[in-house]
Amino acid sequence: MASKKINLAVLISGSGSNLQALIDACARDDFPARIAVVLSNKGDAFGLTRAQKAGIPTEVISHKDHDGRAPFEAAIIKALTPYAPDLICLAGFMRILTPHFINHWGAQRMINIHPSLLPDYKGLNTHQRAIDDGKDTAGCTVHFVAPEVDSGEIITQKQVPIHPDDTAETLAKRVLVQEHIAYPEAVERVAKTLLPQ
Ligand code: GRF
Repeated sequence: MASKKINLAVLISGSGSNLQALIDACARDDFPARIAVVLSNKGDAFGLTRAQKAGIPTEVISHKDHDGRAPFEAAIIKALTPYAPDLICLAGFMRILTPHFINHWGAQRMINIHPSLLPDYKGLNTHQRAIDDGKDTAGCTVHFVAPEVDSGEIITQKQVPIHPDDTAETLAKRVLVQEHIAYPEAVERVAKTLLPQ
């Protein structure tokens, strides 16, 4: 890697507010990463518009056009490979990935953001489950992706309070603010380990 920036491939399925946080961070000269490509499994994901506005190439690979996980993932690999990604960033990518796909990119070359303080509340509906359990703290986690869903070494976590009158929506908003801080921080940390000293 001759450059002072690693190449990111960001995978999304929806709004892409975390993608936006990465776009904004990558605009800094001293940020050690650039986004080489944004890939969505949904053609109408708003994140694609965010990428296009920033002049970032986009790819759409729909799981619906493929007969099973293996051909879907093979199509993603084919689409991403020309961009030579050093790190794959899952940012609200709502498909479960096989160990084959995860390992294809090499050890610790894929990271994810999850809206809970892992290992608590893996999976979906994290905020409602935390409220239902009477927790007073929630948060988000950026972690390396391992074959087991929402596991893998933790890179960074941010906490927020849960207020007595919180709904899943109000809590999600508070957590999201921290996600937008946590994800660029985690990318910066990982990128620095990948760049030559
Ligand atoms: C975030 O809450 C993230 O933690 C989860 O999916 C959501 C994506 O939001 N994995 P956005 O598309 O980045 O706005």
